[in-house]
Amino acid sequence: MSASVTVTVSASVSASVSVTAYVTASVSACASLLSCPPMLTDPKAIAIISHARQKNVAQANRSSRDFERIFADFFAGHDFTGERIVDLGPGQWDFGRMVAERGGRCEGVDNDPAVLELGTYLGMTVHDANLRTFDPTPFAGQLDGLFCKFAVNAFWHKNDADRAAFTASLDRMLTPQGWGWVAPWNGRPKEGVDDDAARRILAAQRDAFAAVGWTAYELTETQAQDYGMGGRVENHPLFIRGLELADGPRLSRAM
Ligand SMILES: C[S@@+](CC[C@H](N)C(=O)[O-])C[C@H]1O[C@@H](n2cnc3c(N)ncnc32)[C@H](O)[C@@H]1O
Repeated sequence: MSASVTVTVSASVSASVSVTAYVTASVSACASLLSCPPMLTDPKAIAIISHARQKNVAQANRSSRDFERIFADFFAGHDFTGERIVDLGPGQWDFGRMVAERGGRCEGVDNDPAVLELGTYLGMTVHDANLRTFDPTPFAGQLDGLFCKFAVNAFWHKNDADRAAFTASLDRMLTPQGWGWVAPWNGRPKEGVDDDAARRILAAQRDAFAAVGWTAYELTETQAQDYGMGGRVENHPLFIRGLELADGPRLSRAM
């Protein structure tokens, strides 16, 4: 069984270039995938993650439908064999477990001891680092893929130069053929950022990804929820590099 949704996406990629992308996202049920990622069922894994800092990460019986949809829409047919991938903020390691099932290696960067312990328990390589100050330089040119769902934030950076430098350093983690899928969690700080500043910072985040050749999309609320990114955020950006989307969403851009 599969259902389809059609989503219209507008993204302002730079001050002078406006991009409208039409995304037809096929939201497929698990039955159409090669195999389903198991929700965490191992009692030890559940016990470990139940200590996670974030409530939604600690919740072991959480659905993994969001990751099934992401795989169906962006990675159907992707050959993960032998790929080295980093997931920034892996949570319950759904992405890493799905990659491992398909012959790839996923490492995770996080600073929650429960997330790191779960990764180790699952046989993943873990890197203990604060993503607000994370320096990806040691990974430069090493990765076939970079994944990040809801774990980096446009408002974490001091200024546009910092934002651009961080984004460029993420891009540099990848080999020339490497792919990237980054959907930031753009929750606005409770104080100190007014509406105008927020708009400017979000535009600067889009510009920073566009400057290193990534494509910027703005997901609808529904699509963001389908991909497990609901909640109180300023926007729903998705930045992509180097992914073959032939069997996933069809993207067309009007410049
Ligand atoms: C909202 S969860 C998303 C988890 C997973 N990507 C998913 O979509 O299910 C955010 C993840 O980022 C991690 N995280 C949040 N802030 C962080 C920080 N400053 N440094 C390192 N990891 C952080 C959390 O521990 C958690 O694993």
